[in-house]
Amino acid sequence: MTTTTGASAEDIEFHYDVGNDFYALWLDDTLTYSAAAWDDASGDAGDAVALARAQQNKLRHHLNQAALPPGGRLLDIGCGWGALLALAAQEDHAGEMTGLTLSRAQHTHVNSLALPRVQAHLKDWRSHTPDHVYDAIVSVEAFEAFAGPGLAPAQRVRAYTDFFAACHDWLAPGGMLSLQTIAFDNGVDADGPVGAFFASDVFPASALPRLAEITAACDPYFSLTTLTSTPEDYVHTLRAWSARLLAARKQAEEAAGPDTYRRYRLYLKTCELLFRRGEVTLYRITLRRRPQRLHLPT
Ligand SMILES: C[S@@+](CC[C@H](N)C(=O)[O-])C[C@H]1O[C@@H](n2cnc3c(N)ncnc32)[C@H](O)[C@@H]1O
Repeated sequence: MTTTTGASAEDIEFHYDVGNDFYALWLDDTLTYSAAAWDDASGDAGDAVALARAQQNKLRHHLNQAALPPGGRLLDIGCGWGALLALAAQEDHAGEMTGLTLSRAQHTHVNSLALPRVQAHLKDWRSHTPDHVYDAIVSVEAFEAFAGPGLAPAQRVRAYTDFFAACHDWLAPGGMLSLQTIAFDNGVDADGPVGAFFASDVFPASALPRLAEITAACDPYFSLTTLTSTPEDYVHTLRAWSARLLAARKQAEEAAGPDTYRRYRLYLKTCELLFRRGEVTLYRITLRRRPQRLHLPT
């Protein structure tokens, strides 16, 4: 497998190892760190119950799309603090479950949950070498870290192709891949002050894909069964996170320092604006493994 790397373990640590206590102040109780799926976002932005419900909807969506057969093995690439694995572990029909993360703090946290049939590894998917196939794969908002800034579109497609080729190798025949990623929509590239702020202060070595890059990379390996674009899901999620971080300002400054508090407030508000303006969007994509890799004409 050729690799065109995106974020390294050090890059990921920069973002996630601000400390679990800090994230616990403004994420929901399961520490889900990705856009929720909102049926109703009309209430108070900081409502913890509404955020928790929308996060469970999102996790359930991915588990439904993954269609894990009874006793089936599940892989979560970029498992964060383990919310999806925890939900899957409650379902008796799930078999062994594996999570991959590059963050030590997340890895320690998932292991501390002692979830039945779940193993978390502190590992880049590029060096994952499973000794069995999986029946389903889920990857929620890790894709953004798979190709770094400054790459030409063709290089990004190569990096994403490595990912889809690996998932194809690891999945049983007919297995499903449920993917969630932020992507450029009206915005075209990461140059300029906003992109520079994200690359230096928020998510080092990460860059957003475009839909055409995702489809070019996955087409040889997967057929697409569903695709939704719901930027409003991120607007509501970011509003909720911002309101909760603002309400917890004192504890957040104590947990991570005033500079980190300010940086996260700015990052959450800037992201909300980018989704509101349609510069970026949120895709949820369901893919079915092709029986054979296709060799498409170039
Ligand atoms: C935004 S968080 C999302 C976490 C989780 N899926 C959720 O929804 O709460 C991104 C996750 O991707 C992981 N990640 C990023 N690049 C990775 C890679 N190359 N290999 C494994 N995990 C990776 C990070 O460590 C982190 O756990």
